[in-house]
Amino acid sequence: MKSWPERSRRRNLAIVGTGGIAVSHATALGDTDRAALHVVCDLDAERARAFGESWRVPWTADLDEVLRDDEVDAVIVCTPNRTHGAIGRRVLEAGKHLLMEKPLAMSHSAAEELAGLAADRDLALVVGHIHRHTDQGIAIRALIAAGAIGEPRFVRITMNGGWLWGGWESWVLDPAQSGGHALHNGVHLMDLASWWIDRVPDRVFAAGQHVTSAALAIHDYLTIQLSYPGGRAAICEVSRAEHPRDQAFVEVRVAGADGVIDRRWDAEGVVTWGDAGSRVLDVPAPIRRAFRRQLDAFVEAMEDRSLANPPPRDAVAVIRLAEAATRSADVGRVVTIGADR
Ligand SMILES: NC(=O)c1ccc[n+]([C@@H]2O[C@H](COP(=O)([O-])OP(=O)(O)OC[C@H]3O[C@@H](n4cnc5c(N)ncnc54)[C@H](O)[C@@H]3O)[C@@H](O)[C@H]2O)c1
Repeated sequence: MKSWPERSRRRNLAIVGTGGIAVSHATALGDTDRAALHVVCDLDAERARAFGESWRVPWTADLDEVLRDDEVDAVIVCTPNRTHGAIGRRVLEAGKHLLMEKPLAMSHSAAEELAGLAADRDLALVVGHIHRHTDQGIAIRALIAAGAIGEPRFVRITMNGGWLWGGWESWVLDPAQSGGHALHNGVHLMDLASWWIDRVPDRVFAAGQHVTSAALAIHDYLTIQLSYPGGRAAICEVSRAEHPRDQAFVEVRVAGADGVIDRRWDAEGVVTWGDAGSRVLDVPAPIRRAFRRQLDAFVEAMEDRSLANPPPRDAVAVIRLAEAATRSADVGRVVTIGADR
């Protein structure tokens, strides 16, 4: 395989939406020679200016200015979920590759439209399912692929924290802007479970609670059960309502026909168990590396669409699951994918 500089030119990227997560993307861009931050854009000119000055790049409040710029190869969209469909469409129609923060869109039809547009225009479309790029996520997928636990049968993922995203004023707490807990955060867990199990679920059952306050318009505690063809299953527990509030509890178990993978994400490593005993793999955890890896994967996808991770079909599939989970939590029964829209 050729080294990077021989294989490709350096890509110029724009970041649209210069809020919280944009910092992680800008940091990743500062760590690589494969791509450079070329310009930043935010509807809020003051935010765009402050971000541009701190990263020493030009800034604008006008997305069209970014999209007209022939030097911009690709755009990372870090705006609130509600805006993803419309901004994503403009980016792809302008002929730019797109790294969309999760979720891909607010509905599966809008997500399918973006995936179709990217395919028609032969542009890279990658969604920020960052857990696929963590050391733990990759290590567990590799262990399963290597047959360490036999056929995977059951995944349990818990990602609990004790803070309301962005505080009481945040757009995240407004279902019209974020899509609710399943779409905003549940997608991370459902994507990871399905990636490890390597199947698309066909049934979803979810139950939510408003723990922090009954006044919340979205659930801050949610469990989602996914059933896969052939009997595989996953349980995803995602909360922003832990007490005390500085508590975070993240845990993973993948059970297979011949063994088990366990991961306390804030503990030492990934443990695999089988009849022959256990072994511990030292898997480091810095999330910063995951953003850098995600960026590299995006740049690779600009060269070869088949390298997109997740592939657009998976990013669309998880939107369907989020819709099904939201519906299931509302109506209190199992929702069958494809039969109950
Ligand atoms: N991958 C992850 O782990 C992760 C973590 C946090 C957030 N996210 C996702 O990243 C996105 C941004 O989240 P955040 O927490 O950074 O939000 P934020 O509220 O901190 O920042 C959003 C920014 O977008 C700007 N904006 C709003 N509408 C715009 C528009 N039409 N054009 C240009 N700019 C606009 C706002 O002014 C704000 O500066 C969301 O989609 C969220 O789901 C992903």
